Amino acid sequence: MSQESQGVLSAYDWLTKLYHHLLRYTKDGKEGYQYMKDRGIGDEAIETFQLGFAPNVKDFVAEFLTKKGFQQQLLVKAGILSQLNDNDVSDRFRGRIMFPIRNHIGKTVAFGGRSIKEQEPKYLNSPENELFQKGKLLYNFDLAKKHIRKENEVVLFEGYMDVISAYQADVKNVVATLGTSLTEPQAKLLNRYVETVIICYDGDNAGLEATYKAANLLRKTGCSIKVAKLDNDMDPDSFIQQHGSDAFKNRVIKASDTYMGFYMRYLKMDFNLKIEGDRIKYIENVLQELAMIESSIEREYYLKEISNEYNISIESLTSEMHGYRQKQG
Ligand code: GTP
Ligand code: MN
Ligand code: MN
Ligand code: MN
Ligand code: MN
Repeated sequence: MSQESQGVLSAYDWLTKLYHHLLRYTKDGKEGYQYMKDRGIGDEAIETFQLGFAPNVKDFVAEFLTKKGFQQQLLVKAGILSQLNDNDVSDRFRGRIMFPIRNHIGKTVAFGGRSIKEQEPKYLNSPENELFQKGKLLYNFDLAKKHIRKENEVVLFEGYMDVISAYQADVKNVVATLGTSLTEPQAKLLNRYVETVIICYDGDNAGLEATYKAANLLRKTGCSIKVAKLDNDMDPDSFIQQHGSDAFKNRVIKASDTYMGFYMRYLKMDFNLKIEGDRIKYIENVLQELAMIESSIEREYYLKEISNEYNISIESLTSEMHGYRQKQG
């Protein structure tokens, strides 16, 4: 590792401790601490995730780290300070809850900062560098690893808060992407550790779209997948805060869909099933997808379901689907 990277790691390590200390024990961090309490996050989770607070002060961190002997230039390069002009810098993160982003051996390599007022952007991240590439990291992978191995299952979320809430609700085999689509390196990493990935994204349309993409990437990589179902206005964190741990385990995680179940739900976004023509196109689309499912039991299960739901004979559904299977060769 370059000397510069070592310096950056050391600065991030100091910062993790500083932000955390400010949140837990000081007047400067009080509004951050209150914000986390209001969101239902307790001290144990604050400790586990070393959550912190960056006060809304221009150069709190700049002063602290300079006194520790760090060069301003390094701190600017590391994305800890922003260069305002030739001879002025300011802290990059101000008035934000700080989530240390740990690499897979538990070292902080970046921060995500959430504004606690309406300040935009809602989340601000550290810039990427040699140590931090968001497409290669999964949030919380270091802590989740042993739980993932034990369960042979991992739950994949969109956000930090989802991970922290789930962990607090005693669902610990959980990781999240860092505000971007799941990438191939991330999918491969998961595939090395588990058989099954449970995708548990936000319940809105954006979440459904992202689920579709992640599901197909994971399947291509060799994972089996399941998809959790949340109401349109919910994300995993808000579900847990509203309904609690048992409901999350039983009604969301254990009740998650197969890929096909999800796909049928996903497709419905694009069709108005009250219109006959749409209904037919919808069924054709489902059959095309079903034709690619390996398990004949699963194929038959959904054929029956469609047959019942749309009152079409199982014979014609089956023959239509076989047509698609032959086309695939
Ligand atoms: P809360 O509003 O605090 O509950 O956060 P959330 O995790 O539910 O946020 P959301 O579902 O909107 O986004 C999911 C993830 O995308 C977040 O955890 C962030 O990593 C990322 N993200 C969201 N908003 C922004 C943004 O404005 N900028 C960046 N860079 N990332 C964002
Ligand atoms: Mn502590
Ligand atoms: Mn969202
Ligand atoms: Mn969300
Ligand atoms: Mn949320």
